[in-house]
Amino acid sequence: MAKALLDVLNRKHPARRPVWLMRQAGRYLPEYRAVRQEAGSFLELCYRPELAAEVTLQPLRRYDFDAAIVFADILVVPHALGVDLKFIENEGPVLSTVRDLAAVDGLADGAKPWQYERVYETLRRVKAGLPAAVGLIGFCGAPWTVASYMIEGRGSNRALALAAARDNDAWFRKLMTRLIETSVDYLLGQLEAGAEVLQIFDSWAGDLPADLRQRCVHEPISAIIEGVRKRKPGTPVIVFGRGIGMGHGELARATAANAVSVEQDVGIADVLASLPAGVAVQGNLSPDVVMAGGERLLTGVCDICRSIPMSRHIFNLGHGIMQHTPPENVTALLKAIREHDSGMA
Ligand code: CP3
Repeated sequence: MAKALLDVLNRKHPARRPVWLMRQAGRYLPEYRAVRQEAGSFLELCYRPELAAEVTLQPLRRYDFDAAIVFADILVVPHALGVDLKFIENEGPVLSTVRDLAAVDGLADGAKPWQYERVYETLRRVKAGLPAAVGLIGFCGAPWTVASYMIEGRGSNRALALAAARDNDAWFRKLMTRLIETSVDYLLGQLEAGAEVLQIFDSWAGDLPADLRQRCVHEPISAIIEGVRKRKPGTPVIVFGRGIGMGHGELARATAANAVSVEQDVGIADVLASLPAGVAVQGNLSPDVVMAGGERLLTGVCDICRSIPMSRHIFNLGHGIMQHTPPENVTALLKAIREHDSGMA
């Protein structure tokens, strides 16, 4: 059966505009909060495949989305490399830090970590329960974003990571190389387990000035995609370089991604016009607008749909859906997209 998500990524005309939302499985859903409580902690939820598969599928039961994204976190990778990781309620992740060569050399070798095996098992379970038209997305964080969490130990302002990048410290280069290698293995394992599309999240790409962006964003992501496609040619990849504004065209050219995901506050039609022929855009409704609902939501949806043909667009948000979003606003969002595209709006 044709899948709209894959059609857009493979430059075919989709039966409808594909839609999914970043963090579509998450705290805004009461059924997620119930399973999360059963698991005890966020990380425990990520590592219990029966529960992780359940929360991956929850939004698909409520909403007519075109994709599921495996429930896990970008910080599974540092955890697999032996870094201590905790998620603190209302604060976010806290990690043991990596700030010199000894710490990089002390990382685990990354061969078949149990953490990756759990995510693969989640994917196999999700795949078995997935509606035929729904695409399955695997993911990882990009080296710059993951390295900055490892260096800072939390989601702070990235001052130390930026200094290491600017000085091009040997330990920083080695850390980036380790992240590239393990991410290739991890993504190949996800494809093997049933993922059909990969998304690479570079949430902090917008931190870097142009010269560092080339070395810390474009080149590492490009190396990961090349490594994956060497073993699995033609794998569709979406790259999210958050905060790079009109830099998405260059990112698409440098990485040979099939689509770029675009943050809010950028004209997504302008981004599309700047892309190489055939590359699609994903995004970019503001999560605030989904939380607000009502007229603002309808206007926001229509403005985006009107400006981009459905054959080049994967509807999504500019960042993850917010915790206090009323679930019925997502129903309204889908209705507005479908009505727009059927000419009713
Ligand atoms: O539905 C999905 O999108 C799939 C699952 C997913 C999660 N995190 C679940 C999650 C994905 C793809 C991610 C990616 C991720 N994780 C990113 C990149 C995208 C982005 O948001 O910029 C980053 C930077 C992380 C790291 C991370 N994970 C942080 C900073 C936090 C704390 C902030 C917060 O929202 O609580 C998390 C926690 C997290 N990851 C939650 C979820 C559903 C909330 C945790 C909970 O249930 O308590």
